[in-house]
Formats: sequence, structure tokens, C-alpha cells
Amino acid sequence: MSRDDARLATRLCGVALRNPVLAASGTFGYGLEFERLVDLNALGGLVVKGLSLEPMDGNRPPRIWEAAAGMLNSIGLQNIGVRAFVREKLPALARLRTAVFANVFGYASEDYVEVVRVLESAEGLAGYELNVSCPNTKHGGIFFSSDPALLADVVAAVKRVARRPVIVKLSPNVAAIEPLARAAEQAGADAISLVNTFVALAVDARARSPRLGAGFGGLSGPAIKPIALRLVYQAAQAVKIPVIGLGGIATGEDAAEFMVAGASAVQVGTASFWDPASPLRIARELDRFLGQENIANVQEIVGTLKWP
Ligand SMILES: Cc1cc2nc3c(=O)[nH]c(=O)nc-3n(C[C@H](O)[C@H](O)[C@H](O)COP(=O)(O)O)c2cc1C
Repeated sequence: MSRDDARLATRLCGVALRNPVLAASGTFGYGLEFERLVDLNALGGLVVKGLSLEPMDGNRPPRIWEAAAGMLNSIGLQNIGVRAFVREKLPALARLRTAVFANVFGYASEDYVEVVRVLESAEGLAGYELNVSCPNTKHGGIFFSSDPALLADVVAAVKRVARRPVIVKLSPNVAAIEPLARAAEQAGADAISLVNTFVALAVDARARSPRLGAGFGGLSGPAIKPIALRLVYQAAQAVKIPVIGLGGIATGEDAAEFMVAGASAVQVGTASFWDPASPLRIARELDRFLGQENIANVQEIVGTLKWP
């Protein structure tokens, strides 16, 4: 291992990562689409597109709208379904030396459990990330991500069947993040990640209509970074389990900011739309930053924010 490798090498809920920069779910496909553009083995890790029990077509177009310093999307969780993922994508992903996490979603706790059960029967995954930003169909459409009791239910149910680490991905669309972070931790989550996208609306004033086919969309990209940093800081103060930070990260120094605020690792989403190799570039830039700061290992900066 070279000195540079040693500086970035880290562990996340027992999983060894060559660096703490992961590609975020939904912005890096199933990873394999990027194989010719990016050395997938050099990534800290990658989180695949959200998987459901059955395949989903997603929302009607348009599904993407560029905003100032950000982007709205309403993909609608289009995916090939967990069984096709295991059959068609996982064998190639399993050959990578990079940690691959499966992002999982559903509309009832049982959906999450069933998807994880299918994944448990396969080899090649480092862990799971639960996307809890879906409305619960059994409880009148209340979002898992906004109700601590519902959140605890789904996390506990998944933990009963999962032998791999479970990361719970929190939504930023809440008045207070701490009760949700604590509910995930108490239900057995191995880590939390945040943030998912902010519910937003883009309007075409001439057509008097939303810009996106689905109406609302999720805002991501540099525009959300300061709010995401605030939420990551608050969540990291509230729990002892590792926090993975994301939201608008586009440079190594952005990644360092999230780690100083309390994140043990980071994910990169929207930046991959304009620079597909951005997770690798950001890891290199983070390494340079650490060198300039005379830091021997990246974990030394985690949670070092000096509050005024
Ligand atoms: C096009 C698109 C699709 C996404 N799909 C998912 C998904 O399937 N599951 C999930 O948990 N998050 C999904 N996200 C959210 C991202 O993983 C990330 O949380 C969010 O975009 C904020 O990070 P960023 O500003 O770096 O993009 C998606 C985001 C975008 C832009």
C-alpha cells in the first residue's frame, strides 16, 4: 500500500474501503454502465440504483430539469427489479474489488424485507442502503422517512433478515432530523446516510405547467450542499453509528467539509452527470487536501468541526 492509499483507506461498518468516496444511488446506474469511463476498482464504493421486488417503469417524461446550481429529477424509481439485478448485473459487480451496496426501496416493510431476502441469497454485495423516502401504502401514504415509529419498524424488519450491514438513507424533507437518525440507530441500523433529494417544483410560466411530467421533483446538486451539511452535522451529533454525507459534493474540499461536519464517508451523485469520473477525481482531491493539512489518515478529520 502506498502512502497515498494509506491516507484514504478507511472502514465503514466493518467493510474495508480503499477511499471514503462512494458513487451515490441513482446517479451511477448499476455501475457497469460506467465501466468504460471509470476504473470501477479504484472507487471507494458504489451504491446501485434503487431496487424493488418487481421491475418499475418510472414516471412519465420529462424527468430531469436543470435548475440554477442544481437539478430536479422525477425518475420515479425506475429499475429492473431485484431478481433481474441478481441474474444480470450482480455476477459482474461481484468480480469488482470495490464495495458494492444495493439500494432498496418499497411501499411496505414486507417489500424491503423481500428485496433483501432475494439479495441475501446472492454473493457479491458489501451491504444494503435502505431508501426510506417512499410513502407507506399501508399507513395512508405517510413517508417512512418522516415518522420515527414507521422508520424503526422497517429498519428492525430488515435487520432480522440481513447478515450484511444496513445503511439507512434519510430524507431531508423533515422539520427535525435527530429523532429519525436516533430511531434508525435504535432499530439496529449499522450506519445512516443523508441527504436524499429535497422535494421541489420547477414551473414553466408560459405553459402554466410544471417542468417535470410528474409535477414535483427532487432537487440535488451544489444548490443543496449547505443544507445537507447542516443536516449531516445535526445527525452526527445525535447518533454513535457512522454517518455517510452527501448532497452537492463536487470537489475534494466539499468532501472534506462533510467529514469535518461528522461524516465518516461521503457519496457523490449529481456531479457524475457532468463528470462521470467525479468520485475518483474527488478522492484524489481529498487526498491532496489531506497532504496539505499534514493528516495521516482521513478518519482524523471526521467530526472535527469547532463550533463557535
Ligand atoms: C437522477 C437521480 C436518481 C436518483 N435515484 C435514487 C435512488 O434510486 N435511490 C436513492 O436512495 N437515491 C436516489 N437519488 C438521490 C441521490 O442518491 C442523492 O441522495 C441526491 O441526489 C443528493 O446528492 P447529490 O447532490 O450529490 O446528487 C437519485 C438522484 C438523482 C439525481
